Amino acid sequence: MRAHLVTYGCQMNEYDTHAIRSELAGIGYSFVDSYKDADLVLVNTCAVRGKPVEKAQTLLGELRKEKHRRGNLTIGLIGCLAQLPEGQRMGKRFGVDIMLGPGAITEIVPAIQRGKFQSFEFINELRFYSPPAPADSVSAHLTIMRGCNHRCTYCVVPTTRGPEVSRPAEDIINEARALAGAGVVEATLLGQNVNSYGLAAGTGSRRARIPGYPSFAELLRMVGRVGIPRVRFVTSHPINFDDEIIEAIADTPAVCRYIHLPVQSGSDRVLKRMAREYTREFYLDRVRRIRELLPDAVLSTDVITGFPGETDEDFEETLSLYREVRYDMCYMFVYSEREGTPAASHFEDMRRDVKVRRLSRLADLSKEISLERNLRWIGRRVEVLIQDTSEEEGLVLGHTRGNHVAAVEANLEAGIHNVVVAHATPNRLYCVEDPKDAVIDSTP
Ligand code: SAH
Ligand code: SF4
Ligand code: F3S
Repeated sequence: MRAHLVTYGCQMNEYDTHAIRSELAGIGYSFVDSYKDADLVLVNTCAVRGKPVEKAQTLLGELRKEKHRRGNLTIGLIGCLAQLPEGQRMGKRFGVDIMLGPGAITEIVPAIQRGKFQSFEFINELRFYSPPAPADSVSAHLTIMRGCNHRCTYCVVPTTRGPEVSRPAEDIINEARALAGAGVVEATLLGQNVNSYGLAAGTGSRRARIPGYPSFAELLRMVGRVGIPRVRFVTSHPINFDDEIIEAIADTPAVCRYIHLPVQSGSDRVLKRMAREYTREFYLDRVRRIRELLPDAVLSTDVITGFPGETDEDFEETLSLYREVRYDMCYMFVYSEREGTPAASHFEDMRRDVKVRRLSRLADLSKEISLERNLRWIGRRVEVLIQDTSEEEGLVLGHTRGNHVAAVEANLEAGIHNVVVAHATPNRLYCVEDPKDAVIDSTP
């Protein structure tokens, strides 16, 4: 029995695929790189924007042909797209056998055994796997919560992933210990809004705590003590990014000083229409506090250009906020209208060329500021995690604690190394070996 797994979307989906892989291995599956050699193909999908949906559709088209050609192929459409009417229509159209939403992926083994199955439930008590620590990796993901209670008007995630559920801290710590024991040197705590970890139902900045759960700040300190040299987390929602979290990062050496704080827009008018729950001023105050306590922190963000009704003035405010914050990195997206979202029902999509032109202006600004930020590191010692030791023109690639891509001119083993930055571009730090380099062994 051979399976081929395809993953689109974010790190939560990668984590889910990893968990599915170990479930399948448990019932005797091996894995192949091409669907042509597989008996089972699972497409773990993303629906956050039009592009990943199109990719899934193209692949399902190819799979349908393959199935017609040889008959013995089971096709599964799983993950976020499967949870939406759009995906369920697609599944029918392409004759898929298995459809599971992200809340039901724990049903994967019974689904395969039945051959035909679908479930879109959110199976709470089974929401978290503890997949075995990856045997061959120095980095690992660790889910701490699932779902999202916010209602950003452009976003499908609250529908696809359901309401927030925090994982018990004990399970998280046990999994972190297992990762440390397996030689993992970097763990990324995952959730759509990790800052609302341990908070009871609702949204906003004043949510009650679930009895018996630590706050996210406390959890960071706890995971920071387990012995994994690098602990990171994604993603943060500014509304719950409180001072205690910033203090926990400052006090906990294992926690990387890399903060991804999606802003989406710099205009209050647009933020309101997006239902982001904060103002520009609130956001800038969070950044001020980060800069005070963590002057070296690397800051990145997400921005959407061309949200319905965004005027030239609104967009200028995004650029001015960007200049004020001086982000190290930015993930930028052209607004993509998603069926079933409040924005799609209430607002009119704008011309694509306007959205794209704004994105390209933001890209120019971001490139300029990233270069300025990266040049500051020249001559400084940085810690690089090398995962892949294959050399590309005499360089090995890794990433710093601040999540910069680092290209090191040296023949280094996998693991953590101290190197010195010699040169920088907007998206890379070029480093050379540090004579004082101390390798932290990544094997148990
Ligand atoms: N929970 C995370 C983000 C999840 S989606 C958070 O709130 O930060 C990742 C990013 O995709 C978002 O931050 C947003 O910038 C972008 N995105 C989400 N929906 C989108 C849409 N309909 N069109 C364009 N970009 C979108
Ligand atoms: Fe989507 Fe907003 Fe939730 Fe992030 S916080 S997942 S953007 S609804
Ligand atoms: Fe996509 Fe689902 Fe992640 S929609 S971004 S895979 S939560």
